[in-house]
Amino acid sequence: MLVTGGASFIGSHLVDALIARGAEVRVGDDFSSGKLSNLEYPLTKKGSDIWVHNGLTVYRGDLKDKSFTKRMVEDVDVVFHLAALHGGRGYIASHPAECCTNMILDQLVFEEACKAGVDRVCFASSACVYPAYLQEKSGSSYLLKEDDADPFMRDKALADLEYGWAKLMGEMALRAYHREYGMKTASVRIFTAYGPRENETHAIIALIAKAFIKMDPFVIWGTGEQDRNFTYVQDIVDALILASEKIEDGSAVNAGRSDRLTLNQAAELVFDIVGWRPKRIIHDLSKPQGVASRAADLTKALRILGWAPKVSYKEGFQKTIDWYFANHDVAAVKANLEKALFER
Ligand SMILES: NC(=O)c1ccc[n+]([C@@H]2O[C@H](COP(=O)([O-])OP(=O)(O)OC[C@H]3O[C@@H](n4cnc5c(N)ncnc54)[C@H](O)[C@@H]3O)[C@@H](O)[C@H]2O)c1
Repeated sequence: MLVTGGASFIGSHLVDALIARGAEVRVGDDFSSGKLSNLEYPLTKKGSDIWVHNGLTVYRGDLKDKSFTKRMVEDVDVVFHLAALHGGRGYIASHPAECCTNMILDQLVFEEACKAGVDRVCFASSACVYPAYLQEKSGSSYLLKEDDADPFMRDKALADLEYGWAKLMGEMALRAYHREYGMKTASVRIFTAYGPRENETHAIIALIAKAFIKMDPFVIWGTGEQDRNFTYVQDIVDALILASEKIEDGSAVNAGRSDRLTLNQAAELVFDIVGWRPKRIIHDLSKPQGVASRAADLTKALRILGWAPKVSYKEGFQKTIDWYFANHDVAAVKANLEKALFER
């Protein structure tokens, strides 16, 4: 099995789950945001860009370089395609051109996988494929259904920024590869994942980092009333594996929660768990805050995958905070935080 972007936050947890099931796993990653240290195995270096440990082989390389992509897809039966230029709201709002390059990356991986006779491709798509107008109402109870995003239908082809459009084009291509060449393909629309190994570009880690350095006044981007269905990484990994096994026709499935937290509520949960609270909270309206309200309809995920998220907000936040506090240094976080919020 190949995991592109396997040294990333989600990718590394996926690698762990596949290895735990006894799979032989190849990782192809350029480490542009992923880290070798996310793969917590006693890896042995074999040459300048290859590391191995039992059934795991990690290759450093750029998947926009065709010869590297060709090597990566050779003799693998399943490709989990997670490599992308991606970050939180700060990154995708301020790096539109970089997000467009994901279209090249995705198409190259799919084309080479198909030529090499790969049996299945499972794509890390995103909730950003959904039209923003369905997510504009503050406090909405609307749940996004897979049919709400469709590149061929007026009113349904309105993805969220360049990043969302690239994901929608990736999904479209995978359906085409199935139709024309019979390659088994699936797209998993990941909603706002969080958990250990994520960085501060994403909202939950940003809130935890600010609590870690005891930022006071404590800054929350936007009004803080924007809500999301933050979904713990282990649940996302389970959905990716199930989709790779159960979906063949390139259709997309949601991997997210149907209940939501506002950013203000998420901050309160962080304060409760760390046992510290700032004297003052500032809402910075100059910062990007994305859509007002976002959560997933899980009917299809339950029906097709038998999947629903298992990890509660309280448990997921606790695990993430425990990891962050054990693995970071206050001075280093203080020195880098402003930059990190906009990076990958
Ligand atoms: N984190 C989320 O909430 C979320 C939500 C929706 C979708 N996704 C998708 O899930 C995937 C993983 O995201 P993540 O949050 O774990 O971290 P991430 O976005 O940092 O992961 C991307 C990985 O791809 C690698 N990469 C980028 N360009 C590459 C290239 N040209 N060649 C080789 N490797 C390259 C990076 O080094 C990194 O390891 C991405 O495709 C992302 O778009 C994530």
